[in-house]
Amino acid sequence: MYNPLQNVDTTKSEPIILGIESSCDETAAAVIRGRKILSDEIASSATVQAQFGGVVPEIASRAHTDAIAEVVERAVKNAGITYADVDAIAVTYGAGLLGALLVGVSFAKALAYALNKPLIAVNHIRGHLAAAYLDSPTLKPPFVTLLASGGHTAVLYAKSDAEFEILGATLDDAAGEAFDKVARVLGLKYPGGPNIERCAQDGKDTVPMPKMLKGGGGYNFSYSGLKTAVINYCHTKAQKGEGFSKADVAASFQKAAVDVLVEKTVEAALEKGVSVVTAGGGVAANTYLRTSLKAACDKYNLTLILPEKRYCTDNAAMIASEGLVQFKLGNFADMTLTAKASIPLAATLETVQSRAAKKAEA
Ligand code: KG4
Ligand code: ZN
Repeated sequence: MYNPLQNVDTTKSEPIILGIESSCDETAAAVIRGRKILSDEIASSATVQAQFGGVVPEIASRAHTDAIAEVVERAVKNAGITYADVDAIAVTYGAGLLGALLVGVSFAKALAYALNKPLIAVNHIRGHLAAAYLDSPTLKPPFVTLLASGGHTAVLYAKSDAEFEILGATLDDAAGEAFDKVARVLGLKYPGGPNIERCAQDGKDTVPMPKMLKGGGGYNFSYSGLKTAVINYCHTKAQKGEGFSKADVAASFQKAAVDVLVEKTVEAALEKGVSVVTAGGGVAANTYLRTSLKAACDKYNLTLILPEKRYCTDNAAMIASEGLVQFKLGNFADMTLTAKASIPLAATLETVQSRAAKKAEA
């Protein structure tokens, strides 16, 4: 019988968590002990997906099915532990591609059942936020965090270990989405962000870009105008038979897209009176963002905790890290756990406790 919570000790100082992630095109597994990463394995179908210019859900699901057992085995072996040492199994249950998520969720459930180990349901976005805790033993709320991924862009106030307040968010496209769409216009391959970054290295910020919501719109963002401006610029040049520098467009776009993120994050930190800033999500792997945010934080005496680049983009160590937060809160899933394709940002940031409190109030 599956009954893993009988002997679980949520006060254990450094639990060993196995994290499993399969929400998009990366099959990943990692093991952490406390906040220390013991292993971190990824098998990606990105090169196959690149041929199609984006992620094809069916291909992603099949690739996960092929890879997952081996990736998890490798994570456990390379961590130098055995399955018996694992205190809990944390898995991404949403948001993401449904078929892809189901592979990770089903595998994690089967493993938890077979080993009679606690199962933890991790929200992918909360995983991105928890990446800052990895290898960062002293980080604790309150802090302000920038979330910039392919699906979300927001400035958040972390009140406690598990409670976030949305200070502002994108009104239309996410920052990563804008990088991906602009990359396509420039004929750069999927995934767009790193390719724009590479292309921008040879360019100058000389192409006029629309005013972002800088100094306005509170802590909200809007990326659709920026994307349209780039599309119009390239099409107009092409219609006139004039050439243009892809590198200059990439550099100008990157600067416009990133400067507003940095400005608003630092403003929010100053307003909230926190001394620590963190960031997470694929766009936080961008070198221009990392150096600009560091310079802005230094200017105002704010401590910046940035996850290493590889823990900004999708990985399983961040899922294990959020699993650790949930482990300490005693939030465990059971065998009814299933995958969820979409979870609104506000619901993502609610805790089990705050949901229970709201229910009790109602
Ligand atoms: O967080 P992530 O790996 O996946 C989710 O959306 O959850 O983020 C992927 C996004 C993509 O839009 C990708 O183009 C962008 O992050 N990205 C970058 C960089 N690396 C990934 N954007 C700008 N510069 C990068 N170096
Ligand atoms: Zn992600």
